[in-house]
Amino acid sequence: MHATLCDMIMDLVQNSIEADASEITLSVEETEEKLMVVITDNGKGMSAETLEKVKDPFYSDGLKHRHRKVGLGLPFLFQTAEMTGGTAGIESQEGVGTTVTFTLDRSNVDVPMFGDFTTAAMTLMTYGFDVNLKIERSIGEKNYAISRAELNDALGDLNDAESLVLLKEFIASQEADLGTL
Ligand SMILES: Nc1ncnc2c1ncn2[C@@H]1O[C@H](COP(=O)(O)OP(=O)(O)OP(=O)(O)O)[C@@H](O)[C@H]1O
Ligand SMILES: [Mg+2]
Repeated sequence: MHATLCDMIMDLVQNSIEADASEITLSVEETEEKLMVVITDNGKGMSAETLEKVKDPFYSDGLKHRHRKVGLGLPFLFQTAEMTGGTAGIESQEGVGTTVTFTLDRSNVDVPMFGDFTTAAMTLMTYGFDVNLKIERSIGEKNYAISRAELNDALGDLNDAESLVLLKEFIASQEADLGTL
């Protein structure tokens, strides 16, 4: 079950990985009022027909499982945006790739908690093999960017026990440098 926005972001990046993307860019920007997320991949994309279905928040099991508090994947995103006055969109072209975008109002009480971005980024950076994930992150005016390719060059195999410790310290320090709002 989803707990935080970071879980949701991880699920969406997971979709890109499942679509066999070799390049994924995740952008997560926070301002005092808003959270803005863009996930772009060069995976297999979706046909116009599939895209229409996934855009419909009631296409998923949402209707069949009315008592489930949250949906999964894209239905969860669209439900959250709809319930809280945010926006969510998905563009996709078969054989080219997919872009998922959402903006949520941080002050809305129904927007889930943000969660632990360091752990989410760690998990995504060490998942799978042939995916170059780039993360662009900002809070207010401060920002940083990391890519899996660069981290690989600097730290070697990211799944190495030693690399994992360094990777976590590195991402945590980048996050700390962003400060808080
Ligand atoms: N980045 C993407 N590229 C290509 N197809 C996608 C992408 N994201 C979603 N899809 C398509 O939309 C469908 C619905 O995605 P969603 O995340 O809601 O559910 P799921 O991935 O099938 O299941 P779950 O996330 O619950 O494991 C996917 O099965 C896939 O066909
Ligand atoms: Mg999914």
